[in-house]
Amino acid sequence: MSAKEYFNNAASVWDEKFHTPKLCSFLEKLVPQFGIETGQNVLDVGTGTGVLIPYLIKAVGPNGSVIAIDYSEKMVQQCKAKYSHIKNLTIKVGNIQEDTFPAQTFDVVTCFGVFPHLENKQKVLQNINSTLKPSGKLIIAHALSSEELKVHHKTVSHHVAHAMLPKNAEMTKLLEQAGFSTISIKDEPGFYLCIAHKT
Ligand SMILES: C[S@@+](CC[C@H](N)C(=O)[O-])C[C@H]1O[C@@H](n2cnc3c(N)ncnc32)[C@H](O)[C@@H]1O
Repeated sequence: MSAKEYFNNAASVWDEKFHTPKLCSFLEKLVPQFGIETGQNVLDVGTGTGVLIPYLIKAVGPNGSVIAIDYSEKMVQQCKAKYSHIKNLTIKVGNIQEDTFPAQTFDVVTCFGVFPHLENKQKVLQNINSTLKPSGKLIIAHALSSEELKVHHKTVSHHVAHAMLPKNAEMTKLLEQAGFSTISIKDEPGFYLCIAHKT
């Protein structure tokens, strides 16, 4: 089974398993740290069932917009069932590794819980860099530290057992090579947040 098939199969029970009240209160505190301003355009990569969406919509306000993509059709289906009524939100199937996105479009790109699953991280970072506006930023975040994430992926399924975050030095190198600077990484129990600015 491919990782995409794994996520398609997991979509119908995803919220039941992972969209817990604990995650909601974590996200409520996390998203304000992204520094999103009202009126901005945000791309949420690997949105899944859209756990981040209510917080992103609140952050951009009525004059901003959010585009949420996921390569799993079933995840997108679940996400649309919950959020398709939101006017300034577009939810669609998209693969950040293969699709090209219009240049200089987004103020912020968010990757919550998705970065370890991306096989060609360098290509993805270049893709994200090009779709960001000149002063845009990339957010990579998790509700676990990189070490906790390693254990979590091994426990959850062998289909994602190999998925891990690069070590901080490697992450910084990948980001710099893709055209990011002013990189901050916080990696501590129950929390991972990397913010990188387009150079
Ligand atoms: C661990 S889930 C996280 C979903 C959601 N962000 C959350 O935290 O609940 C990872 C998601 O990334 C998606 N994904 C993995 N690789 C992707 C790619 N190349 N392009 C777009 N989405 C991808 C998967 O389908 C899955 O929904």
